[in-house]
Amino acid sequence: MRCIKYLSKPLNLALLVVAAVCLVTVAIGNLSAQEELKKEESTCINCHAELEDELLEPVTRFRHDIHYEKGIACDGCHGGDSSAEDADESMDPDKGFIGVPDPLEIPSFCGKCHSSSTYMGKFNPALPVDQEKKYRTSLHGKRNAEGDRKVAQCASCHGIHGIRPAGDPLSKVHPLNVPEMCATCHSDPGYMKSYELPTDQYRKYAEGVHGVALLQNKETGAPACNDCHGNHGAVPPGVASIAFVCGNCHVNNMRLFNESPLKAAFSELHLPGCETCHNYHDIPKPTDAVVGVGPESVCRDCHTETKRPAGYRVAKEIRKHLDTLAERTRSADSVVVEASQRGMDVLDAEYRLKDVRQALIEARTMVHSFDAGMVKDKVDAGLEAAKEAVRLGEKAIANYYFRRKWLGFSTLILSFLVLMLIFKIREVDRRTGR
Ligand code: HEC
Ligand code: HEC
Ligand code: HEC
Ligand code: HEC
Ligand code: HEC
Ligand code: HEC
Ligand code: HEC
Ligand code: HEC
Ligand code: HEC
Repeated sequence: MRCIKYLSKPLNLALLVVAAVCLVTVAIGNLSAQEELKKEESTCINCHAELEDELLEPVTRFRHDIHYEKGIACDGCHGGDSSAEDADESMDPDKGFIGVPDPLEIPSFCGKCHSSSTYMGKFNPALPVDQEKKYRTSLHGKRNAEGDRKVAQCASCHGIHGIRPAGDPLSKVHPLNVPEMCATCHSDPGYMKSYELPTDQYRKYAEGVHGVALLQNKETGAPACNDCHGNHGAVPPGVASIAFVCGNCHVNNMRLFNESPLKAAFSELHLPGCETCHNYHDIPKPTDAVVGVGPESVCRDCHTETKRPAGYRVAKEIRKHLDTLAERTRSADSVVVEASQRGMDVLDAEYRLKDVRQALIEARTMVHSFDAGMVKDKVDAGLEAAKEAVRLGEKAIANYYFRRKWLGFSTLILSFLVLMLIFKIREVDRRTGR
């Protein structure tokens, strides 16, 4: 009874609650301190935390490392005895201490765990274990095996002591960060001086359609360097040559090109497919001006009225079809816009306009058949839809004027009736003598 009385005083109840909360907090705090301790039991971490500069840095960066999160400490990679307090004893080569690995050893240093499905399976069975194997097939890997310490190895791309999963936005290999990461070597003329390679890939890529889409518009569907060159291997798996990599994403363009007469012609001349017309790093935004026989046309590079004239004629004809549809799209657009600005319902017309735009997109893709007839089929479908859109738009505009005419007319009649009414009322007033 006393207890209830005690508790019924608000101040006492509040005190009790505060005490209980404090107790629970202390208990939880103790638990996490113990957990922390488990990891910090490592004498490597404890001692290095007291050191300076490059001996301390591994510890500070390690807090955000995936290996630390999974319970792998310094000795997991460097070997040694993480329970010995003494430096010499802890970092004893007889206890497996390997110190700082040489760049030439790093692939097998990381591969010790990452190439073992039995080991990695205990942590994450879904994680591939083929990175080292694929790396060895890449140019980086081959040069590394030949003794070149400057080519990329695991740690140059993933970092050291702050390695994050690929999907983490702060990871060096996250799609949005990859171009910058590759550029640290490939855009550094001093670093790349001893190789016969240009150092303009990043600059060109950043200006091209893919770089603008990925780096400026954060469109992760657009390729970063590794989507074309592979993460670890020379090119992504299933792609025989980098020249075919565009078709991974631009499926229709690739199919049409492969079925076109240009496929065999380009092979004979040892020309790559897509890059011959589009480039590969600095891909400009394509426009209709690129097809045809005008000054910006790529067809003119190989076709003139006298040299390979068949292609010249086709280029001219394809362009004519595209221009017709583009022009008709604009005029249909303006009719529908006018109707909508007058407040009319133009939903049907807008649906047809969508079909027109879709046909224009498909016609532009169809350029890759290099067949004027096939482009014309798409264009004709677009023209048909444009005609319908214009008809619906014009009908809406005609309706608008019709309604306005009737509105004017009925206003006139109404005004006349009101006037008559006023006259009538006055006349009645006069008769009753008021
Ligand atoms: C009691 C302190 C102490 C402990 C414990 C300790 N270290 Fe060190 N570590 C040092 C000092 C000091 C240096 C720099 C001097 C040297 O190279 O011996 C160093 C250097 C290193 C280096 C660079 C070696 C090189 O060749 O440049 C690595 C890697 C390293 N420690 C890893 C570890 C690992 C892994 C552990 C645990 C298994 C560990 N350390 C335990 C103090 C310690
Ligand atoms: C995932 C593997 C991995 C783990 C875990 C790891 N290291 Fe390293 N560490 C490396 C690699 C790889 C290098 C060599 C990098 C290079 O080429 O410069 C390195 C280099 C070092 C160096 C030399 C640094 C320098 O700049 O010269 C020290 C010191 C070191 N590690 C200490 C530690 C300590 C202390 C820990 C634990 C807090 C630790 N490492 C955990 C992989 C690891
Ligand atoms: C030229 C740069 C580069 C090198 C060298 C490199 N990687 Fe990667 N790595 C990447 C990129 C890029 C990704 C992730 C791509 C993605 O999935 O978005 C990746 C992903 C990974 C992953 C995640 C799983 C997977 O396969 O996608 C692991 C694990 C990995 N790398 C380990 C390694 C190891 C081990 C080595 C050395 C044998 C290595 N990497 C060498 C760039 C590199
Ligand atoms: C002692 C074994 C071991 C060593 C050595 C090792 N790793 Fe790991 N690594 C792991 C484990 C375990 C994971 C966590 C896998 C998981 O649970 O997803 C991991 C995860 C990773 C991931 C994240 C994969 C992802 O999910 O995207 C990368 C990247 C990575 N390691 C790179 C490296 C690199 C680079 C080296 C060499 C410098 C290295 N590792 C050395 C065991 C190791
Ligand atoms: C640590 C520096 C470094 C990093 C990081 C690096 N590379 Fe390299 N890469 C090189 C060097 C050096 C060569 C020259 C090898 C040669 O020609 O012998 C090379 C060669 C290449 C080649 C072959 C070029 C040829 O000769 O045809 C390609 C492709 C390439 N790198 C792509 C990439 C991509 C993509 C990335 C990022 C995912 C990347 N590299 C990251 C240093 C680096
Ligand atoms: C859309 C695909 C694609 C993207 C994205 C891409 N590349 Fe390339 N890259 C290619 C093609 C195709 C080649 C020519 C290969 C050939 O003809 O053998 C090439 C060639 C190279 C070469 C050899 C030298 C040269 O310039 O021709 C290097 C190095 C290179 N790329 C690095 C990069 C880097 C770094 C990035 C990111 C900033 C990148 N690439 C992005 C497709 C791409
Ligand atoms: C990983 C997928 C992927 C790969 C590989 C790829 N692309 Fe793209 N590409 C895209 C995406 C996504 C866009 C759309 C970017 C945007 O929104 O502007 C695009 C845009 C384009 C455009 C501009 C289209 C337009 O209407 O604006 C051209 C041209 C192009 N890519 C050519 C190529 C060529 C040539 C290659 C091979 C060297 C290639 N692409 C490789 C995904 C890819
Ligand atoms: C002979 C020159 C030529 C070749 C080869 C070529 N293209 Fe094109 N491509 C063009 C022209 C011209 C346009 C512009 C069409 C337009 O906008 O009117 C274009 C437009 C594009 C577009 C934007 C229109 C669309 O379809 O979305 C993409 C994407 C594209 N090409 C990808 C590729 C790919 C991938 C390859 C290789 C399979 C390739 N091209 C091969 C000439 C070429
Ligand atoms: C890099 C050079 C090159 C470019 C660029 C090029 N072509 Fe061709 N084209 C050829 C070659 C080579 C042939 C093989 C037949 C020939 O000699 O006439 C050919 C054949 C053709 C044919 C088949 C002709 C026939 O005899 O049936 C057509 C159609 C064609 N090209 C259209 C185009 C169009 C359209 C463009 C621009 C979008 C274009 N080409 C760009 C080199 C090129």
